[in-house]
Amino acid sequence: MSGLTDRRPLLDGREIPVFGFGCYNSFGEEMTKAVAAAVETGYRYIDSAARYANEDAVGAALRQFAGMREELFVLTKVWVTALDEAEESVKHSMDQLGVEYLDAVLIHWPGTDAARRLRAYEALLKLRDRQLIRTVGVSNFQWNQIEEIQREFGAYPAINELEIQPAYQQTELQDQCGAQGIVRIAYSPIGRGRYQEDPVVRAIGQKYGKTPSQVVLRWHLQRGTVPIPKSSHPERIRENAAVFDFQLEPEEMERMNRLETGVRAGLDPLTFNG
Ligand SMILES: NC(=O)c1ccc[n+]([C@@H]2O[C@H](COP(=O)([O-])OP(=O)(O)OC[C@H]3O[C@@H](n4cnc5c(N)ncnc54)[C@H](OP(=O)(O)O)[C@@H]3O)[C@@H](O)[C@H]2O)c1
Repeated sequence: MSGLTDRRPLLDGREIPVFGFGCYNSFGEEMTKAVAAAVETGYRYIDSAARYANEDAVGAALRQFAGMREELFVLTKVWVTALDEAEESVKHSMDQLGVEYLDAVLIHWPGTDAARRLRAYEALLKLRDRQLIRTVGVSNFQWNQIEEIQREFGAYPAINELEIQPAYQQTELQDQCGAQGIVRIAYSPIGRGRYQEDPVVRAIGQKYGKTPSQVVLRWHLQRGTVPIPKSSHPERIRENAAVFDFQLEPEEMERMNRLETGVRAGLDPLTFNG
């Protein structure tokens, strides 16, 4: 693994960059400048979502790099209240993002109605058949919900995007996904800044001359998850990407693994319905 443009294989024969840029919670010009800074830094995977209500701003940046479209991996998501209108949601995202196809579309949350999420997934598969989407995946799905897809459509989703950070690793679910070749994308990978003062992370960082965020992002890479840190600051965007020039020792990985608390920061996928 040498850098931001490296890719890993997906179950459907395609590939995804090993590192991405998150687009949650910045808007307008701030978001446009951040995405542009990320692409200039070398990020190739842009993690967007209809729910973030900023795809016009993400699209304004992507339009600046239209000549690089095939190098970029543009991912969006269908929100849980739009499961019955998955095709419309995807088309709206494409319009906002200014792209003629999407590298990946995920169902953002499973919701509590299996029939609805399966219909939405089927709608995404049909868009894939029409070549508007290259890869279909899910986010926040638990293992029984993933097996439901496998039973219904005869194949696993290529991606499951999950909250993964040292304090909430979802190890069993990750192992279940990993055993079937499902790529795990790690959202809130740096815990929205919560490791800045963590003594374990700071001590490891001091040894390598790296910041807490860099140590945590390196931990993700060595665990085989795809981290997608977000920042609206160009210097942090560059900082977060400078994680390919050092390696954590097995004992340091173990110390990081022991930061698990079992407490998720986000919502509960078994009950959240939008
Ligand atoms: N699928 C899902 O359900 C789901 C849920 C949540 C998130 N996501 C995706 O995952 C992406 C990342 O997750 P996230 O945005 O929740 O959290 P995150 O990437 O863990 O953290 C982002 C926060 O950390 C700050 N930050 C970034 N780099 C930093 C650094 N080097 N030092 C100190 N602080 C730093 C940012 O502030 P500044 O912007 O001010 O720098 C921002 O407040 C999202 O943007 C979104 O694309 C997906």
